[in-house]
Amino acid sequence: MSRILVTGAAGFIGSHLVDRLLEAGHEVTGLDCFTDYYSRETKQQNISRAVVHERFRFIEGDLLRLDLDEVIGVVDEVAHLAGEPGVRTSWGERFAIYTERNVQTTQRLLEAAARNGLERFVYASSSSVYGPDDGGPVDEETPCRPASPYGLSKLAAEELVRLYGREHDVPATILRYFTVYGPRQRPEMALSRFISLAYQGEPVEVFGDGSQMREMTYVSDIVEATVAALAMQPQGLPRAYNVGGGTRTTVRNLVRLVGEIMGERLEVGHGPPVSGDVRSTWADSGRAARELGYEPGVALEKGIEAQIRWALAGHRVPSIA
Ligand SMILES: NC(=O)c1ccc[n+]([C@@H]2O[C@H](COP(=O)([O-])OP(=O)(O)OC[C@H]3O[C@@H](n4cnc5c(N)ncnc54)[C@H](O)[C@@H]3O)[C@@H](O)[C@H]2O)c1
Repeated sequence: MSRILVTGAAGFIGSHLVDRLLEAGHEVTGLDCFTDYYSRETKQQNISRAVVHERFRFIEGDLLRLDLDEVIGVVDEVAHLAGEPGVRTSWGERFAIYTERNVQTTQRLLEAAARNGLERFVYASSSSVYGPDDGGPVDEETPCRPASPYGLSKLAAEELVRLYGREHDVPATILRYFTVYGPRQRPEMALSRFISLAYQGEPVEVFGDGSQMREMTYVSDIVEATVAALAMQPQGLPRAYNVGGGTRTTVRNLVRLVGEIMGERLEVGHGPPVSGDVRSTWADSGRAARELGYEPGVALEKGIEAQIRWALAGHRVPSIA
């Protein structure tokens, strides 16, 4: 059993990873500073199971300020999920937050990792590093041309991971997650918004015409890929892996599915398209399948059903602004 640090432990994906690692018998340190991207109460609810577990230790603190030698010195592995998500909000003045929370946090962690002889470092990157698609599935050799400042900050963090792997032998792996959904999904993400608005009988707002395509990945599949990356002994330089769910859908079809499952006829309103939102995402997850044994296990309808069931059980409706 390993001693594992999960950064962003109170977030959507981080909290699921913590639960899964505890279940597997590891000693887990969760770190989070409860940024105001969404509410503290929601994040506290995310980790409410973990905080009472005897093998869990929680550090409330900011990766930009903590003494990371102290934090990393007592763990074997790190899964670095902390960051500022969101394409729409990454333009303009707010980009400074993205450089701090996505780039500088990663550099500080990597410095501490290099000094403390860590066994594994897994970085949660994003499909947003690729940018506009050329109509087919992307593999990891596809050139990265981010379409948003968010994507650029994730790519910069990836470059730091590669740099510290090359120059300081940090044994690192990069995972590029494709749109993640499921219970605890962030409240501003499309599916979360659709479910909340449908529950309140409000028109569902779709950005753009709704024909944009997304590769959707259920959160337990993302977690399994992350667990597999933590278990793997990285050979040579840090390698990137796409992690996609194997199902793609238009945003319009997502709305239709939510309506169907909730038994509601949803009224749809259209907002302006989001600058930096790509037309389509499509993962070739072949490398993750071959080298991590990754195989997505949750079909889209089942996953949406699970998220709706969770939301209706009172965890996240009707809290959306
Ligand atoms: N959700 C997705 O669809 C998706 C897709 C691709 C990549 N990712 C990446 O996965 C990771 C997790 O995403 P999520 O959807 O769970 O986001 P989230 O916002 O729910 O979780 C991120 C957590 O990091 C914490 N955090 C941010 N900056 C911090 C700092 N400086 N110090 C300590 N804690 C800090 C936040 O408080 C938050 O709880 C992110 O790095 C994101 O870029 C997510």
